[in-house]
Amino acid sequence: MIKQEVIDKIIDAARIEEVVGDFVDLKKRGTSLIGLCPFHNEKTPSFNVSVSKGIYKCFGCGAGGDSVRFVMEHEKYSYPEALKYLAQKYHIEVEESERTPEQLIAQNKRESLFIVTNWAGKFFKETLWDTEEGRAIGLNYFKERGYREDIIQKFELGYSPEAWTALYTKARAEGYNDEFLEATGLVIRKDDGSVYDRFRGRVMFPIHNLTGRILGFGGRTLKTDKKTPKYVNSPESEVYHKSDVLYGLYFAKKPILDADNCYLVEGYADVLSMHQAGVENVVASSGTSLTSGQIRLIARYTKNVTILYDGDEAGIKASLRGTDMLLEEGLNVKVLLFPDGNDPDSYVQRFGSAAFKNYIAEHQRDFIFYKTQVLLRDAGNDPVKRAAVIHDVVDSIALIPDAIKASVFVRECSTLLDIEERILIAELNKIRISQARKADRKPEPLATPADTSGPSPKMAPIGEPEMGASSDVLQEREIIRILLHYGDKLAAWEVDSDIPIAPLLLSGLSDLSFDDPVCLAVINIYKDYIAHNELPEERVFVGHADRRIADLAVDLLATKYSLSPNWNDEKRKIYVSHESERLEDLVYGAIYRIKKRKVEQQIYRIREELKIETDSANMELMLANYQKLKDISKLIADKLGTIVIK
Ligand code: CTP
Ligand code: MN
Repeated sequence: MIKQEVIDKIIDAARIEEVVGDFVDLKKRGTSLIGLCPFHNEKTPSFNVSVSKGIYKCFGCGAGGDSVRFVMEHEKYSYPEALKYLAQKYHIEVEESERTPEQLIAQNKRESLFIVTNWAGKFFKETLWDTEEGRAIGLNYFKERGYREDIIQKFELGYSPEAWTALYTKARAEGYNDEFLEATGLVIRKDDGSVYDRFRGRVMFPIHNLTGRILGFGGRTLKTDKKTPKYVNSPESEVYHKSDVLYGLYFAKKPILDADNCYLVEGYADVLSMHQAGVENVVASSGTSLTSGQIRLIARYTKNVTILYDGDEAGIKASLRGTDMLLEEGLNVKVLLFPDGNDPDSYVQRFGSAAFKNYIAEHQRDFIFYKTQVLLRDAGNDPVKRAAVIHDVVDSIALIPDAIKASVFVRECSTLLDIEERILIAELNKIRISQARKADRKPEPLATPADTSGPSPKMAPIGEPEMGASSDVLQEREIIRILLHYGDKLAAWEVDSDIPIAPLLLSGLSDLSFDDPVCLAVINIYKDYIAHNELPEERVFVGHADRRIADLAVDLLATKYSLSPNWNDEKRKIYVSHESERLEDLVYGAIYRIKKRKVEQQIYRIREELKIETDSANMELMLANYQKLKDISKLIADKLGTIVIK
């Protein structure tokens, strides 16, 4: 936990234009800054930054928030990660609070492990570039494989000396502890208590986390004898969880976002060669099968994955195996095989970048079709085997959570398999139903078009009325908009003219309830503050932990025009130019309009109840009530009539 004071300090320091400006080229336009939105593709800028409000808002894709939110969205950081990023940018020391002594020890230990691995990274790098052995053996090896110096530098490649305790001796001399050297696996302790280096005479590939710190290493031997393992890897440690790490992701983050696609390869060599060829949206699973943690990591950046594998039998089998989890996570999976046992690395090195890019552009196939073809080729004309292929393919399609996508695959596979679509759908539904049973749910057949199995009472998602917002919600939002924009302005027209608009507005609305939960939450925050004779600042909402509140605040702060559905665009524009000069009308207009609406609703309800009421005494009461409401409604209408612009 970062201390609240520190969080406040960070948020105070983080100027929205500086934070966004690191990633987006901003130009001044009027009172705000404008640029090309980094969250969607656009040619004309619709991405606005309001310096005074401390927010950004894209009118193209709707993205919006404060500085912290921007960093979270842009860098795919969690909330604390984003705060730490900003703290670093503004040189604010992050003090963490509420940690137990055990947690503190663990935290310090993790930090120590990081320090040791990063020191080792430097040691290997310096050995590669600055020692005779390193240059003659390590650097020479990389160059012979065709890697350029800039790529070797970028990935911080290194070399570990061919000696038993080169790293250990140096580490001890520089004051590093045995405990951390062992815990990171850089040194290994023998039963007799003596210690030696894990990596000896190998070229070193450091593995970076998302912020570029080194977590561990892979060391490749330069020997060709079969007895030496090709790779020695850092063991799991408190900082290195292999199942949550993808090699190269630190360097690929932005390219993946830009391309909206991620190439998945097997080895370090493939990542390096592809970068060198200018294809940077690539990560490696490092030879092991993909974990769900790794898949979710990719899914933070893109839904589109292309698996690049060796074209040999093993590569093909591997590509068929690794994909089920990708499909289940809802990713779009494509596959690409290289000819004649090439892998991406050897293909680039042999044929060059241009040929490589061409090849991957032309040979990507949707996984399902690829699988169908491979299996069909194996099955030949054997009818039993062909039936098995159908099951196998349908099994894979059944993993795809998106029913529409699945049905597209069904259609196309029916052609490939030369079998009626109807049969495949039946097969698919069988699997879906048994999956549903297993999960102890009601069977829910999918992929049958136009499912009309009766009405399903669907709950509207709360707090997201956005486009289809009813006018009720719009009126509630209009109140919130006025609060956010003008809540702290003084109601100069009142007798008691130093009362701010917020308490005035809220007391005018005290007898009615808000239906929209998010609007209600904002109102309650205002009430809390007002009860303490204070007013909340914009950032209370814009940086609120409940994203629905933050989103609403950003939307409304970025909204120049009134939300009332009664106004057409022309009126809005006229209105807006005067809005701040007509605060009295604005405030009372909003109060009366929302009241009118609520009263009309009550009238409607009574009318409906009257239709079914049979007891005459009750009816009389209801009619009296009805009349009263009608009077109020008339009163409100009169009041509204005196307000200049409706
Ligand atoms: N790997 C490993 N241990 C091994 C073999 C492989 O950890 N004994 C991992 C490495 O991460 C390696 C990846 O699996 O990068 C793919 O293996 P391979 O294709 O054999 O390695 P490359 O890195 O491609 O090595 P090279 O091209 O230099 O042979
Ligand atoms: Mn290889």
